[in-house]
Amino acid sequence: MNLEESLNKIWQDAEKDFEGAENLRQLEELKIKYLGRKSYLAEFPSLLKNLSSEEKRKIGSLYNDLKTKIQNLYLKKKEILSEEKIKFDFEHPGIDIKIGHQHLISQTLDEIKNIFLQLGFSIVDYDQIVDEKENFDYLNVPPNHPARDMWDTLWVKNFKGYLFRTHTSVFQVPIFKKFGVPLKAVIFGKVFRYEATDRTHDFEFYQLDGISVSEKTNLGHLKWTVEKFFEKFFTQKVKIRFRPSYFPFVEPGLEIDISCVLCNQKGCPVCKKTGFIEVAGAGMIHNFVFKSAGIDYKKYQGYAFGFGVDRLIMIKHNIDDIRILHSSDLRFIEQF
Ligand code: FA5
Repeated sequence: MNLEESLNKIWQDAEKDFEGAENLRQLEELKIKYLGRKSYLAEFPSLLKNLSSEEKRKIGSLYNDLKTKIQNLYLKKKEILSEEKIKFDFEHPGIDIKIGHQHLISQTLDEIKNIFLQLGFSIVDYDQIVDEKENFDYLNVPPNHPARDMWDTLWVKNFKGYLFRTHTSVFQVPIFKKFGVPLKAVIFGKVFRYEATDRTHDFEFYQLDGISVSEKTNLGHLKWTVEKFFEKFFTQKVKIRFRPSYFPFVEPGLEIDISCVLCNQKGCPVCKKTGFIEVAGAGMIHNFVFKSAGIDYKKYQGYAFGFGVDRLIMIKHNIDDIRILHSSDLRFIEQF
């Protein structure tokens, strides 16, 4: 095949190839094949050196024409393929947009709020950053009282005496001062403690606190309320255990355990093989607290309780490590 024939052959191949290009990527590959630095056409001029000057002129001009023609082929096809690309494809499947949903903790808080509304409680709110009087002093926990060690505290830097509330019981005196008595109210929210974490302890978690005060409220009312609450929350009967305990702002004080539904009381890491999980502290409100709030403690009496909401969620949904609740692990979040 002489040089003229080989140029003709290249043209025929190029026409066919460019015609068949289906997308811009294939087109760019063809451009490299025919016009690139290592293409036959790029090396072609070196083949002309042994020709007579007349032949050089003739073949040279055929070569230049061919290059221009192939370049035009490329540009035309590029225009066609680019237009096709921006055509709207009505049947192309849409992009799947992920829609978020309420976190399990928020769902549960709503559920619990509804139960307490049914039980006749009002729902109130209070600050997360409070002063130490509210968190401790008003609740009969004076400075240096050993009970302060029970709640290792996160203090606010540069604001002396201010702290992240260690329990929702902090609402008691402010709420009595605001609304007076008789009163039946619950508060829900985050609390913070400077402590090491494990399966059942986090350094921030949710609590709810409730109080009920009238001239006649007694421990029996507390027991009934707690039992009713658990019955509605777990939609089944769970065993409840009251244990004597100590909190400076109640007298008598008790701790409430419920039977471990994770292991059916056989013993597991969550209940530490005891068959019961501690979920709440409670008791009859101490006279000291009534005095702090300016309430006549000879006339009024009432109970208070404080639940760990995360622990309730763990039991209800069979979660064996509290820390996953506050992680942002979608594999967990999307299950609820
Ligand atoms: C209190 O915080 C008291 N304020 C409760 C109280 C209220 C007693 C009213 C009497 C009257 P305690 O530190 O035990 O008590 O915490 C209450 C509940 O919060 C516990 O029963 C437990 O369910 C939960 N809890 C405590 N520490 C943690 C923690 N680190 N992580 C997760 N939950 C916790």
